[in-house]
Amino acid sequence: MAAYLTAEDKRTCYCAELSAKNIGETVCVMGWAQRQRDLGSLIFIDLRDRTGIVQLAFGETTDKEIFDMAFNVRAEFVLCAHGTVRARGEGAVNKNLPTGEIEIEVTSMKVLSKSQTPPFAIVENSDVKPELRLKHRYLDLRRPDLARNIIARSEITKIARDYYAENGFIDIETPCLIKPSPEGARDYLVPSRVHKGSFYALPQSPQLYKQLLMCAGFDRYFQIARCFRDEDLRADRQPEFTQLDTEMSFATADDVMQMHEGFIKYLFERYFGQKLDYDFPRMPWKEAMERYGSDKPDIRFGFELHDLSDAVRDTEFKVFRGAIDMGGSVRGINVKGGAKMTRKEIDALTEFVKSYRAKGLAWLKWADNGDISSSYAKFLTESENEAIKTVLEAEPGDLLLIVADKNAVVFDSLGALRRHCAKKMGLLDPHEFKFLWVTEFPLLEWSEEDNRFYAMHHPFTSPMDEDLEFLDSAPGRVRAKAYDIVLNGTELGGGSVRIHDSELQAHMFDLLGVTKEDAEEKFGYLLEAFKYGVPPHAGLAFGLDRLVALLLGQEDIRDVIAFPKVQNASELMSGAPGIADPKGLEELAIAIVKEENDSENA
Ligand code: AMO
Ligand code: AMP
Repeated sequence: MAAYLTAEDKRTCYCAELSAKNIGETVCVMGWAQRQRDLGSLIFIDLRDRTGIVQLAFGETTDKEIFDMAFNVRAEFVLCAHGTVRARGEGAVNKNLPTGEIEIEVTSMKVLSKSQTPPFAIVENSDVKPELRLKHRYLDLRRPDLARNIIARSEITKIARDYYAENGFIDIETPCLIKPSPEGARDYLVPSRVHKGSFYALPQSPQLYKQLLMCAGFDRYFQIARCFRDEDLRADRQPEFTQLDTEMSFATADDVMQMHEGFIKYLFERYFGQKLDYDFPRMPWKEAMERYGSDKPDIRFGFELHDLSDAVRDTEFKVFRGAIDMGGSVRGINVKGGAKMTRKEIDALTEFVKSYRAKGLAWLKWADNGDISSSYAKFLTESENEAIKTVLEAEPGDLLLIVADKNAVVFDSLGALRRHCAKKMGLLDPHEFKFLWVTEFPLLEWSEEDNRFYAMHHPFTSPMDEDLEFLDSAPGRVRAKAYDIVLNGTELGGGSVRIHDSELQAHMFDLLGVTKEDAEEKFGYLLEAFKYGVPPHAGLAFGLDRLVALLLGQEDIRDVIAFPKVQNASELMSGAPGIADPKGLEELAIAIVKEENDSENA
């Protein structure tokens, strides 16, 4: 039977807080048995809590009842132990453990609860299947590396609250049950019982509410906000995630960038004790695309894109010529030191770019000994070959990789390829942090599929003043007062200066094909608010999960979320989502339509 705590069982410290300084002290610790070692007349138990491990020792002087209890302890039993801190015997010191010089000579103990044999060992860097770990997430979270991430996340959140509070931001909660919204992803809908047939949406972000808080005069708003987006998951995306969300009144894009750059610097100083005493570089979107093929470039390494179109404009080689003729381009990267790659590895790179819709990859390998092999050189004249080498500044040891296609495909595939090569060559140090502001995003994005424009950021983003004149004549070239903060190839946060003029806002809706009635129905309250004196305002939201993951060198944001979801948006531990109770559905006036070939429900 499980024992209970009594008045004497007052914990005096956490396990890993003990050291040689405490020798001779009487202590009481509580935690989980990491492992028990039975040496006959001696028993040792490693006791673990969220801080780490301390060794409990039982021997000839131990009361027999306690000794027998220790004998029966198994992994993950929960214990309360009283005893005296003493130095470990000669040769028993464990240099790898912060508490390795001492142990607790136990005088009394309780087994607070027992444990079945856990489905996996609670150890650092477990290589157990992720599905099993997620199914027993509460055990997974006992593992020190994962627990450290969750605790670090709490510290980082605290630092964020401090910074924004010190800078006059007011922490305000916005609702989670809102009107279905217009941002990029699909909404999660919540049916209303009272208003049958009507739905709330879970917020994709607090965007409109924070703008309304500026209308309300709060001047500076801050919230650790949970956001919900029904979109396809990747390593850096979850269906519910957390934003460190902000908005400022009477602020320009520059004010906003300065403020948040200040936060990153404050965070680095407080969390890592590291001073970042330089301005983060700022790069217009167009330059980012042309140099890195990405709007979130990783600038820890080179391999920049170069336009080779001019060098091969008159070529007979149909692959290059075709791309130029259809309005695309031929671009390449020089993977310095890449000539070490084998033919097989280069073929794998070709497969890699194909997953980015490229039709092929042209390559040239210039070995250190001067030998050249290439997939394309024989199709080009000598001067064309030379021109390519010149533009890419090629020399022995290099690998040139070229894609010819529509610009979108060229950027996408080469952008991904340069990062892929850098990763393969071990050039990506997770502890090197290279921040970058990407600015001057296009305001609108044309969708071939839907034959219409979409807002690249969101419909409330202000166009740049100097481009206003093209709003009707050439909407595609209008740039926005939008900015993203990028870290090592990940979009950490994004924001914009908002439109604060109802006429311009109505014009934007028009460009986006939102009818007057639709705009009125969906955002009437915002347009109405704008009629009563709205300050110019701008804001930014960081993805907190991404921020924490990157700072801790984690590749997957699941490793900094206590209870994350998997690829198909389910949560393996609880089994969410689940089937709703038919009576509940009836109350909501909801009927489930069975899909024709849905054998499970048939
Ligand atoms: P945006 O949509 O760019 O902007 O989101 C801001 C930041 O949130 C993070 N993020 C995510 N993190 C994890 N999982 C996801 N599915 C996910 N989606 C986004 C990213 C991103 O940079 N309202 C605007 C902000 C503003 O204009 O102030 C917004 O939501 O790190
Ligand atoms: P092909 O004439 O199709 O056999 O192609 C000749 C070479 O060009 C091969 O090495 C292909 O991998 C390469 N290639 C084919 N399509 C492209 C493309 N869109 N961009 C760059 N290289 C390509």
